[in-house]
Amino acid sequence: MKVIISGYGRMGKMVEQVCRERGHSIVDIWDNASDRDKLSTVPDGVVVIDFSLPESAVENILFCFQKQMPVITGTTGWYQQLPEVKKMAEKFNGTLFYAPNFSLGVNVFFQLNRLFARMMTSLTGYRVSVEEIHHVHKLDAPSGTAIRIAEDILVSHPEFDSWQNSPDVPENVLPVISVRQGEVPGTHKVVYDSDSDTLSIKHEAKNRKGFALGAVLAAEFVQDKKGVFTMRDFLIDRGFPQEFL
Ligand SMILES: NC(=O)c1ccc[n+]([C@@H]2O[C@H](COP(=O)([O-])OP(=O)(O)OC[C@H]3O[C@@H](n4cnc5c(N)ncnc54)[C@H](O)[C@@H]3O)[C@@H](O)[C@H]2O)c1
Repeated sequence: MKVIISGYGRMGKMVEQVCRERGHSIVDIWDNASDRDKLSTVPDGVVVIDFSLPESAVENILFCFQKQMPVITGTTGWYQQLPEVKKMAEKFNGTLFYAPNFSLGVNVFFQLNRLFARMMTSLTGYRVSVEEIHHVHKLDAPSGTAIRIAEDILVSHPEFDSWQNSPDVPENVLPVISVRQGEVPGTHKVVYDSDSDTLSIKHEAKNRKGFALGAVLAAEFVQDKKGVFTMRDFLIDRGFPQEFL
């Protein structure tokens, strides 16, 4: 597979390493908008893997649609523009795979969280909270992963009207707590706490490799497909039990 890396920061460098390990060739690297705009001809069978900035992701995605290059993006913080991006994918018959978290472990965690929320909603006396810890360079808070976790909890917990990125929230709001600490690659926790006990589930990334590997596997998965894809499509293809998706 021929790969263009869009965003050559912490994640872009890890994607490069994983691509090389899997025998893919890196044909271009963009680390700003002008690198991207210098692309003169589109190499045959190329895919773009984007881990850039919240404010540059959409432009990069639309550029890829126009050039008929499948694009995989792990960039978070732009999802308010998702409906518009989906329309553009359709208009240009483009290929987009987006995920707030490409770690396969986190995607198992998402399913555990939904099941956990369904079980816990039948019990009284538990207060639920979501916590995410990331390195101090992270630009968005809460993480895209924490937002997905919170929204999945809301589906099963009608006592909440919404979530808020604060530890101090009224009764009808689910608290999502963001901590920025050192070089932590990404930790997510869901805690149900009562006067008598605490139940929790936690995913702790040890490094960035799991995210990069997931993105490269996603690129391998979509390289010959058209449309908009998420980890759900990938997991179904991999035989993940559908009753949990
Ligand atoms: N989905 C996941 O699994 C996952 C995992 C980790 C990080 N992320 C997200 O990925 C993004 C990147 O994270 P990071 O830690 O590598 O950040 P980073 O700051 O280390 O790297 C971002 C890079 O993008 C470059 N850039 C700026 N403008 C650009 C443009 N127009 N086109 C291409 N590149 C441009 C910057 O120069 C920088 O090198 C963030 O949004 C982060 O939240 C997602």
